[in-house]
Amino acid sequence: MKVKFTNLYKLAPQKRQILSKINTLVKGSNFVGGKEVEKFEKNFAKFTNANNCISLANGTDALEIALKSLNLKKGSEIIVPVNTWIATAEAVVNNGHKLVFCDINLNDYSISLIDLKKKISNKTRAIIAVHLYGIPTNVIKIKKLIKNKNIKIIEDCAQAHGSKIGKKHVGTLGDIGTFSFFPGKNLGAFGDGGAIVTNSDKLKNYCLRARNHGALHKYDHKFPGRNSRLDTIQAGILNIKLKNFNKVLLRRNYLAKIYYKELKNLNEIKLFNLEKNISCAYHQFVIRTNKRDRLRKYLKNNKIDTMIHYPYMLNELNFFPNGKKLANSDKLGKKILSLPISEEHSEKEILHISKKIKQFFRN
Ligand SMILES: Cc1ncc(COP(=O)(O)O)c(C=O)c1O
Repeated sequence: MKVKFTNLYKLAPQKRQILSKINTLVKGSNFVGGKEVEKFEKNFAKFTNANNCISLANGTDALEIALKSLNLKKGSEIIVPVNTWIATAEAVVNNGHKLVFCDINLNDYSISLIDLKKKISNKTRAIIAVHLYGIPTNVIKIKKLIKNKNIKIIEDCAQAHGSKIGKKHVGTLGDIGTFSFFPGKNLGAFGDGGAIVTNSDKLKNYCLRARNHGALHKYDHKFPGRNSRLDTIQAGILNIKLKNFNKVLLRRNYLAKIYYKELKNLNEIKLFNLEKNISCAYHQFVIRTNKRDRLRKYLKNNKIDTMIHYPYMLNELNFFPNGKKLANSDKLGKKILSLPISEEHSEKEILHISKKIKQFFRN
């Protein structure tokens, strides 16, 4: 049986509806802004239960604009977990701040609170909590840690649409949250897309202008911003996909349960050990093993695609500050493996992958 890692074509099941929406928007020359974009912002704010949603061109811009909106002094120290997509760290250096990498914990790959305590200094002005793989970082515990300190929290939710701590959607626990709608994300567009959510009207007002050359209306520029608007067509597609998104989350959780059940007794691999009281969007299902490369090859020979998120930690990139060795994340990129998981994978496929993994360790 051949198992693909993702099949983007299959991940848009409402194709007829989507193509008809595109047709209508093209016929009406609706390409930038307009009702469809406003509707998406309302829908996504409702979905995350945030006061405000500002749609943007991509998740990288969302991070950069979110950090800028906090109006921190140049050179402020911003703490970022070392296992994340490069965009999280780029936002810090592209805003002229000092990047401070923090270790992660090996239960759920979120930022290590033990290392975070050590990394906080009197120059720390923000922490970027990344809800990597769809697993919520415990922002409530981070807030306790920084109580009475002038430190802001940005949540990078690019991989975590639908992830929650208790009843609170990620992105609404800190000061400001950022999302990506890149096609491969759980909620993906037919191209790039992104958004910011925040309960602060002050931050909302900044972000609305920042995405549109500092203006809310034509020739109403208040400061130099950029062009980072979500296309009308992408907004139309996302409005349709968002309607069915709870089914996507249920399906991913169902398939993850199968992996847990099938793989939990294998001593040679480590599965996520998630905290109670969270809902996980399972953007990725990551296992950890010292035999990663051999296992990956074995799966490939059995026509099963896998991926690595990520093959290196960001402090291994020589243009970022390296700092001291971080105990948990050291060489982590050589041990982690992302198994196929999406709403379009069948139960049969997940059982087949699990069977092959068990076979590998038995031999
Ligand atoms: C954790 C994380 N942050 C930020 C981004 C950036 O999003 P985009 O690709 O939409 O710019 C991504 C996308 O891969 C991501 O995974």
